[in-house]
Formats: sequence, C-alpha cells, structure tokens
Amino acid sequence: MLRILITGSDGQLGWELHYSCAHVGEVLACSRSQLDLCSPDTIRRTLREFLPNVIINAGAYTAVDRAESESDIAMAINGIAPGILAEEAKRLGALLVHYSTDYVFDGGARVPYREDDSVNPLSVYGRTKLAGEKAVQQVGGAFLIFRTAWIYSTRGKNFLLSILRLAKERTELQVVDDQIGSPTWCRLVAEATAEVLRQLAIETSLYNALDGKEGLYNLTCRGETSRFELAREILRLCFPEREVKITPVHTSDFRTPATRPQYSVLSTAKLEKTFGIVLPFWDGVLASVCKQIKTAADAVSTT
Ligand SMILES: NC(=O)c1ccc[n+]([C@@H]2O[C@H](COP(=O)([O-])OP(=O)(O)OC[C@H]3O[C@@H](n4cnc5c(N)ncnc54)[C@H](OP(=O)(O)O)[C@@H]3O)[C@@H](O)[C@H]2O)c1
Repeated sequence: MLRILITGSDGQLGWELHYSCAHVGEVLACSRSQLDLCSPDTIRRTLREFLPNVIINAGAYTAVDRAESESDIAMAINGIAPGILAEEAKRLGALLVHYSTDYVFDGGARVPYREDDSVNPLSVYGRTKLAGEKAVQQVGGAFLIFRTAWIYSTRGKNFLLSILRLAKERTELQVVDDQIGSPTWCRLVAEATAEVLRQLAIETSLYNALDGKEGLYNLTCRGETSRFELAREILRLCFPEREVKITPVHTSDFRTPATRPQYSVLSTAKLEKTFGIVLPFWDGVLASVCKQIKTAADAVSTT
C-alpha cells in the first residue's frame, strides 16, 4: 500500500491529485496551512510523522508576474523547498514526484521541446522552477519531475476562468496571438501521475520499480494553439450566444512584468515510450470541460 503525501493540496493540481491518488494509496493531502514549503522544519516534521513512501509536491509559487517583485519568496518555495523534500524523500526511501514548467525554456524553438533541450528561462518564475528541478536532481534520490504547461481547471486561477470572467464583464477582449503552447487540463496531469504510481506500485520496492525510469518527463495534452485561438475557442464553447469581440494582439502590445516564452510546446514522446501514457489533444479535452461548465451554469440558472 502506498502512503502518499501531497503538498499544495488546495491548488489546481493538488486538488485533483487528492482524488486521483486515493485510488492508488493512502493519501495525506496538505494545504499550505498544514505544510508551509517556506518552513524547512515543518516539511521535515510532517514527513517524519507520516512516513510516506511517495511525496508529491504540487505546491508552488505560481504568480508568474508577481514573482518578478517577490523573487526571494518564489525561490524559497519553487527553488529551495523541492531540494528539502528530495533530501527527506531520500532519507525515508520515498519517491519524490515534482512538477515543473514549460517556462524553463526561452521559446526560441519551433518544434516541441524535448526534456534534454537547453533551458533558458526568461522570468523569475521560470528561473526558480529550474532551480527546483536542479535541487531535486542533485540530491540523487528516487524522483520523477513532470514538466507541464498551460494548466487549467474549473477552480483556481487560470486562463480558462479568466477569459470566462472577462467575457462577462466586457464586450471586447484583446488576447495575444504570438504565444503558442499546449493547454492542459490539470485532472489529466493528476490521473497520469496516479497511473505512473500504479505502474510502479506493482513492485514491492519503488526503487526497484523505477529501474532507471527516474528523471524528467514532459506531461501535457497533445497539440498546440495560441492564447488567442484558445480564448476564441473558450468563448465559442461556453458563450455561443453572447457577442464578445475578440482581437488578436502581439505580446509586445501587451506589457506584463514577466516575459513569457513565445513557443513552449513540449514533446511527450519520452513519457509515452517509458510509461505508455499519452494525453489526448487539447481541443477535445477543452470541449468536454467547457460542456461541464455550461451544463452546471445552465442547471443553476434553471433552479
Ligand atoms: N498553472 C500553470 O499553468 C502551470 C504551468 C506549468 C507548470 N505548472 C506547475 O504545476 C504545479 C501545480 O501548479 P498549479 O497550477 O496547481 O498551481 P496553483 O493552482 O497555484 O497551486 C499551487 C498551490 O501551492 C500552494 N502554495 C503556495 N505557497 C505555498 C507554500 N509556501 N507552502 C505550501 N503550499 C504553497 C498554493 O497555496 P495557496 O492556495 O494558499 O496560494 C496552492 O494551493 C506547480 O509546480 C506549477 O509550477 C503550472
């Protein structure tokens, strides 16, 4: 039986992991108030009390623009805490599952990034997440790092919910059309994580089960699109009857504190080859999530 401790369990991914992993083992889901990643003592105490054999770090500082002016706290959570979790995992003989981001790349490529392509983050957020990857790798314990991208959910802060909110407030939206990525529903990231654990849990020892599979994996939905096309699709799916004018703009017309990569599509071939996991294309997934949102909204308006 796996004993799985999840950090950041109130976040988009942490929330989904709580459910997906409940099918794989006993879960201790820790929100920020229960396990503060800024407190090494709390991290160590909580882990030594629960004695997990899997630690899933879904906690992160994800405010990409705010990180530009809060680099110390972003580094403490994204860069330093993963190393402490990795040290404790090694001490307990546990597997650490950690998540990183497409923002470790500078976006200069025009074909999907592989795990071993050169990194060059453009933002504080990207640099702190890269520091976290390196900290986990340097400890030399059992680890899996999943780089994911453009995560959305029906709760929390994300592009899908921002577009829905803005579309209710305004009749005209401007969205950048020169940032290209792969929108990924966080439930699928959680389910893929649980599936990997299920595969590994067949062995009595996770170390034996890993058998050279530890490392870095890209984990996103398939396909790619621009922020503008994504926003247009969200509006078409959720508000077919509402007239919201949407205009494409360039990133250079839309100043934000953090610089984002223009192209950050990730190749997921390694994940498929190693674990046989392939997520579906982003557009079909988005359609089904938007259908759920619309059905729920229609049900509320008729009651
Ligand atoms: N969102 C994306 O588009 C995206 C893209 C690529 C990669 N990722 C990566 O995917 C992972 C999951 O992201 P997500 O979208 O689920 O992020 P999220 O919704 O922002 O959730 C992050 C969680 O971490 C918690 N947290 C923040 N500071 C903490 C601290 N000091 N101690 C403990 N917990 C803390 C947050 O707590 P509060 O709720 O209290 O703030 C929140 O519950 C992260 O590693 C992220 O870098 C995300």
